[in-house]
Amino acid sequence: MAFTLPDLPYAIDALAPYMSQETLEFHHGKHHQTYITNLNNMMKGNEFENAALEDIVRKTYNVADKAGIFNNSSQHWNHILFWECMKKNGGGAMPGELEKRIKDSFGSVDDFKAQFAAKGAGQFGSGWVWLVSTANGKLEVTSTPNGVNPLCFAGQKALLGCDVWEHSYYIDYRNRRPDYLKAFLDNMVNWEFVARQL
Ligand SMILES: [Fe+2]
Repeated sequence: MAFTLPDLPYAIDALAPYMSQETLEFHHGKHHQTYITNLNNMMKGNEFENAALEDIVRKTYNVADKAGIFNNSSQHWNHILFWECMKKNGGGAMPGELEKRIKDSFGSVDDFKAQFAAKGAGQFGSGWVWLVSTANGKLEVTSTPNGVNPLCFAGQKALLGCDVWEHSYYIDYRNRRPDYLKAFLDNMVNWEFVARQL
């Protein structure tokens, strides 16, 4: 079954000025759509034709001759999560249960944000920065290259993901990835959505 581009869960200009309409037109309408088009072409007529997206990602991770289908399926999954992780007038206070879990794991919300921003800024080249829950119940900040995501690592569940590919911030922030990460955390994150992933 072919995958389709999900609608953004907000208006195309809802995240401005932190993420402009122009960025979303390219990022959602062009980049995300291209991953879906490529994925649909690559799964035609083979074992993945009717597979669930998560299964395609897990079964193709680190398989040498499946790199193309891995990259496009993982990026489709990553962007679905990414759009949901943001909202108009995001940032601000987080639900109590999430705040407690973050304080238990990182000491304070500010320490968590500092770690998330540093991991995102430090990811060399294209990739993602994540807040994940792990098998022992702790929350951790991780980063991954290119399309790799927490589905690839046993016991990890993604709670929050931020795209640090240049296509995510170059129109609005040019090379200032740290400014984009700060705006993401302080002005765009949908903490209610993150809390629901717990
Ligand atoms: Fe992206």
